[in-house]
Amino acid sequence: MSDRTHLVDEITGHRRMRRNRKADWTRRLVQENRLTVDDLIWPIFLVPGSGIVDPIEAMPGVNRMSVDKAVEAVREAADLGIPAIAPFPDVEMEKRDLTGSEILQRDNLINQFVRAAKKAAPDIGLITDVALDPFTSHGHDGILRDGEIVNDETVDMLIKAAVMQADAGADIIAPSDMMDGRIGAIRHGLDAAGHQDVGVMSYATKFSSGFYGPYREAINTGSLLKGNKNSYYISPANGTEALRDAELDVQEGADMLMVKPGIAYLDICWRMKEAFGLPTFAYQVSGEYTQIKAAAMNGWIDGDRIMMETLLCFKRAGCDGILSYFSVEVARKLAKG
Ligand code: PBG
Repeated sequence: MSDRTHLVDEITGHRRMRRNRKADWTRRLVQENRLTVDDLIWPIFLVPGSGIVDPIEAMPGVNRMSVDKAVEAVREAADLGIPAIAPFPDVEMEKRDLTGSEILQRDNLINQFVRAAKKAAPDIGLITDVALDPFTSHGHDGILRDGEIVNDETVDMLIKAAVMQADAGADIIAPSDMMDGRIGAIRHGLDAAGHQDVGVMSYATKFSSGFYGPYREAINTGSLLKGNKNSYYISPANGTEALRDAELDVQEGADMLMVKPGIAYLDICWRMKEAFGLPTFAYQVSGEYTQIKAAAMNGWIDGDRIMMETLLCFKRAGCDGILSYFSVEVARKLAKG
């Protein structure tokens, strides 16, 4: 035995971590977390019209699709085994107003899509957002009056919109607006309308984040947005406040929780899963996707590798699944093995 080996044995007390890492088979045997296709929720962007597949500049590889094209994509996702889709509409500017009234049209873009997708691919889950931002002329998630986002009237609209989405065939309602009391109110509204089976996934801890930039380009709210969303989203500085917010959503009847954005908020994922034990999801948002794509396109990082690594890390952080724009790419990669 060399002196050096002697020294390391003395330091480690003969406990060497690398024994379990020495071969592919040991590494497979000791692997704690795995990413599978069952972990994926695929967010997609909708536009009015037909036959449209319109690339989003700030999100290479992601398109806005008209309902017919989106339904084709949904069928493909279902064939790949992706459990659920989360659609977001890019609504015509003429239809946006101060109160987001278009959200209460039975035949709005989101409801049209939900009806068509349910018919074409009945086995894939449809998780719809009920926030007002795609429908307002100011890009906020609520009714704007005298410079303020009015909580209770906004909640009133969200209840009605949620029931309409459920009527259209949505399986889970996912409010992303951060108004107070909306989870309980939506639960109540769904039950009163006979939608006991429709779940509520709360965007429980939604932070006021710069990572949403490309999404706002995708649904054309970025240029409209007056001011910021700091009076209703959570500050990135506050973890304990985020937990308290999520706790209220649990009490109000949320079936599932979400943390958004994802990778910079893994501590929140972990704390939420530990605290409540509810199915917990992370949203790897547009800016996270774009960072990886942009660096990969420049040849500066291995995009595929980092895509898989980030998603696996969400699992390690306690998440049951991830909303990710990479979902289809990942599902294809996983299918290849
Ligand atoms: C707003 C909403 C946002 C996202 C989905 N719904 C954020 C925002 O505009 O403030 C962001 C999703 C993403 O960035 O991928 N209701």
